[in-house]
Amino acid sequence: MLNSTRNFVSSDMETAPLLEVRNLSTYYVSASGTRIVRAVDDVSFSLRAGETLGIVGESGSGKSTLALTLMRVLPPAAQIVSGAMRLEGEDLVGKSENEMQHIRGKRIAMILQDPMASLNPLFSIGDQVGETLRQHEGASRRSAWQQAIGLLKSVRIPAAETRVTQYPHEMSGGMRQRIVGAIGISCEPRVLIADEPTTSLDLTIQAQYLNLLDELRKEHGIGLIFITHNLGIVAKMCDQLVVMYAGRVVESGPVRQVFNAPAHPYTAALLSSIPRMSNRRKRLIAIDGQPPDMSNLPPGCAFASRCPAVFERCRNEAPPVFTPAPGHTARCWRSAPEMAGSVAMSVGALS
Ligand SMILES: Nc1ncnc2c1ncn2[C@@H]1O[C@H](COP(=O)(O)OP(=O)(O)OP(=O)(O)O)[C@@H](O)[C@H]1O
Ligand code: SF4
Ligand SMILES: [Mg+2]
Repeated sequence: MLNSTRNFVSSDMETAPLLEVRNLSTYYVSASGTRIVRAVDDVSFSLRAGETLGIVGESGSGKSTLALTLMRVLPPAAQIVSGAMRLEGEDLVGKSENEMQHIRGKRIAMILQDPMASLNPLFSIGDQVGETLRQHEGASRRSAWQQAIGLLKSVRIPAAETRVTQYPHEMSGGMRQRIVGAIGISCEPRVLIADEPTTSLDLTIQAQYLNLLDELRKEHGIGLIFITHNLGIVAKMCDQLVVMYAGRVVESGPVRQVFNAPAHPYTAALLSSIPRMSNRRKRLIAIDGQPPDMSNLPPGCAFASRCPAVFERCRNEAPPVFTPAPGHTARCWRSAPEMAGSVAMSVGALS
């Protein structure tokens, strides 16, 4: 429970990754087996304790499927076809559903985009917030109820003693979102995945909620994975950035480095599409052209049809992962060592 604050020390950040994902692939396969969508394709990244990792990418690029894979709550049509994911060194891919039930919610938890989809209209807030505690910590109903009140207070819900007796429909959108957040953190997970948790909130509540998540991360050393379309949030909240395109990680690295010197033309386009100065929300703006059909990817680079820096090789051969700088990766032929200096894509610095 939150009150029993785990002492997080900064040296935790220097130890092994909390979560390590290597060459992970998840495909959706149609019932006939003829249509395969490579929603997560050869994805690698790692997350350390106390760190926030932002995942960005256009709609359909595989962000939510990646999150569902990490939680092992994929729909029946989806399969993890290869790769590894290790939580505190422990493999998650090979775990049975029974084993995952002891890990999910307790060691790795997720806040969904739509709070109404995660809350049951028939149960009180107290029962729903206390549920994970009863399941994982063996708390009695009475104790879980008391802890639920504490959790509601910790996510800054006023009159928590009254709110805990109410039902989801009696809450505003912002409150429901915070309740889903309270459920997410109830067992102090080591990794918390937030899939666009602020889309339904107005700007003031959004800022409060983001501050809250950030405080929880600092206080408890949670590794936070933040899926968002909002690059302003990435700049404010995240240490590391993963950029997805057509199921693949096309660029990754420290946020400041990627923002200052994007190595992949897609990232450069995303960053240059942020209107400067007056834009406070910094949402992604559409880039010309369409993402490819995920069930019929081109043989070369998936971004080739939209890329301003495309050249012949791109259309025939898919680029591997290059390392333009330590800790910075890009899946682009322009980052191949022999192409060094061929493309300048510095599109503005973090303000
Ligand atoms: N249940 C499903 N069955 C088949 N294909 C699916 C299913 N869910 C998602 N997909 C496909 O998988 C790909 C990745 O979808 P996903 O929802 O992971 O993208 P996303 O990046 O989270 O998008 P958004 O930003 O819109 O939330 C898309 O091509 C999508 O159409
Ligand atoms: S590999 Fe080629 S097409 Fe793909 S992003 Fe790089 S330059 Fe553009
Ligand atoms: Mg999604």
